[in-house]
Amino acid sequence: MTVELAERYLMQTGRRLPVTFVRGRGCLLYDDSGREYLDLVAGIAVNLLGHAHPDVVAAVSRQSAELIHTSNLYFTQPQVDLARRLVELSFPSRVFFCNSGAEANEAAIKLARKWGTKNRDGAFEMITTAGSFHGRTLATIAAGGQHKYSDPFRPLPDGFVHVAYNDAEAIQAATTDKTVAVMLEPVMGEIGVIPAAPGYLRQVRDWCDKQNLLLILDEVQTGLGRTGRWFAHQHAGITPDVMTLAKGLGGGLPIGACLANQRADVFEPGDHGSTFGGNPLACSVASAVLHVIERDGLVGHAAEMGELLESSLGDLGAKDVRGVGLMQAFEFEDAKAKPFQQACLDGGLIVNAVDDHSVRLVPPLIITAEQIDRAHSVMRKAAR
Ligand SMILES: Cc1ncc(COP(=O)(O)O)c(C=O)c1O
Repeated sequence: MTVELAERYLMQTGRRLPVTFVRGRGCLLYDDSGREYLDLVAGIAVNLLGHAHPDVVAAVSRQSAELIHTSNLYFTQPQVDLARRLVELSFPSRVFFCNSGAEANEAAIKLARKWGTKNRDGAFEMITTAGSFHGRTLATIAAGGQHKYSDPFRPLPDGFVHVAYNDAEAIQAATTDKTVAVMLEPVMGEIGVIPAAPGYLRQVRDWCDKQNLLLILDEVQTGLGRTGRWFAHQHAGITPDVMTLAKGLGGGLPIGACLANQRADVFEPGDHGSTFGGNPLACSVASAVLHVIERDGLVGHAAEMGELLESSLGDLGAKDVRGVGLMQAFEFEDAKAKPFQQACLDGGLIVNAVDDHSVRLVPPLIITAEQIDRAHSVMRKAAR
């Protein structure tokens, strides 16, 4: 019924798997027939605390009974509290709140352009990487390095130059007087989990410093513990000038954030805005999410479970297993990722086929060793 109605009333912007979920608890989801599934996708790297986490439920309930929305014409304490916590966890900066990853990246792009106007003689070009994904707005599909998302929507906003990922020399070669920033994912997620090579982010950071460019890191998917550190760039021992977040921040509620250090923070009143961005509900829930991650040691747990998950993927007959922490993928030689995804679903396991060959796993940070075991046995059968 839901499936037929969806076809009739929803724009067909993407393909859905034939299942309708009605309820979730922890790492488990339940469909409309009551069937249970183990969820290794977590709403595409969103539900860091799984489904219906008691602290998230309590924060939604408490804050929605107080104040849900006022706009950014006024101050609200939850917004300031969340900004402060994010800055404490990352690097000295100030925060702009919005509602999604694409919007966080739009903010970063506008910030870079204004910074170029002020500091680099009107330079506006950004160097980004082939295969990257930064969202679905016009500017972010132009920034992203995947033609399938951008070609049907030409003409695109100007000013994005794409180079190969994990090639610092290509960034150096592409830098001109017009360049204002380099924008990267520390692990490319949507294309199928391609981690930065050792030394890459450090080399890019050094180049940006030398050339007076901004380094923007899109941590929308990698942020907030997913890779076994609070932020993926911490593995490389560097800090960006600008960092974007979304996905896991709101425990399932929509929220995005763009953090900029003092050098990059050039927005002035009137430059940018969002009606819903930073509303008290999303911010209170996000603070609760950060609190639980810290209280329950989930960053270290993600590192530990990530290793376990990665080591369990070695016997699925995949030609490549790659990832960092609880952001893992594997690639089949044959085009069998989608049938594999369906076989897993039939076996009560949710995985994500990103294309015909690759499968991505981005489970909640609260996943347990027993659940990884259970997932492994379903995947073994599905891979046969
Ligand atoms: C790295 C990265 N940036 C940006 C986005 C876009 O986020 P949203 O879908 O919330 O706009 C995504 C979504 O997958 C992402 O993985």
